[in-house]
Amino acid sequence: MTNLADLIRNRRSERGGYDPDRRPPDADIRAILEASQWAPTAHNMQNFEVIVLDDPAVLAEIGRVPGGVSAEFIRENYAQLSFSEDELIAKGTGLPATMFPPEWRQPETPSDDQPAADLIEHGFLDQTMRSCPLVLIVVYDTRKRAPASEGDVLGLISLGCVLENMWLTATSRGIGLQVMSVFSDTGIETRLHEILTIPDHMKIAYACRLGYPATQPARYLRVRRPLEHFVHRNTYTRHLAPTR
Ligand SMILES: Cc1cc2nc3c(=O)[nH]c(=O)nc-3n(C[C@H](O)[C@H](O)[C@H](O)COP(=O)(O)O)c2cc1C
Repeated sequence: MTNLADLIRNRRSERGGYDPDRRPPDADIRAILEASQWAPTAHNMQNFEVIVLDDPAVLAEIGRVPGGVSAEFIRENYAQLSFSEDELIAKGTGLPATMFPPEWRQPETPSDDQPAADLIEHGFLDQTMRSCPLVLIVVYDTRKRAPASEGDVLGLISLGCVLENMWLTATSRGIGLQVMSVFSDTGIETRLHEILTIPDHMKIAYACRLGYPATQPARYLRVRRPLEHFVHRNTYTRHLAPTR
């Protein structure tokens, strides 16, 4: 796939299981890492590092880290769900409810004081990782800050640029990728710092699992808002005119 517009449009989250015996070739992994290297970052501060996990023993150890979801996550995730294709198309944002376990699709969302064990646990990380052969963890240096950027927003945007560069490169080489924000959850991150000997000043931004889908990936409706809904012309009160 060489056309940039097609590449951008066809990049997708590959959330199904990956073939554990099919690791992306070294040349492709290197190309993905080089894509991270050339990502734009605020003031070119290059506030990130990448940890490549491809040792089955390390991946298995990480898979044993207890995971789970918070009440806050289930509540806020619920707000992004649509319960029919028509609803999803009309909204133009969010995800089909069918992508999530039935317990996450209930309007009675759990409260913060509910014990973690009662929450709809996904147990251990390996259920999320589903035997994937390769994980890239992006960590960032909390001692660095883009000049005069409150909350280091510009530094965080830079990490997004790193992600997109890697994702598009993986897509261009036929490699599936799923972002796993769960790696930056406090309890999990603490354990990963120990297992991977990550220094305290480096914080996990996100992880990506990569590989080739073990079975034909389930296709779900992916929606985006029409341009005229979010693009304004010369003044905020005038939306971009629809094309005829
Ligand atoms: C910063 C960031 C964090 C994300 N975290 C997760 C995640 O934890 N799990 C997941 O399955 N997808 C995650 N995603 C993927 C988005 O849900 C996905 O990009 C969005 O729903 C659009 O779907 P698409 O990637 O198929 O176009 C994340 C994406 C971004 C940019």
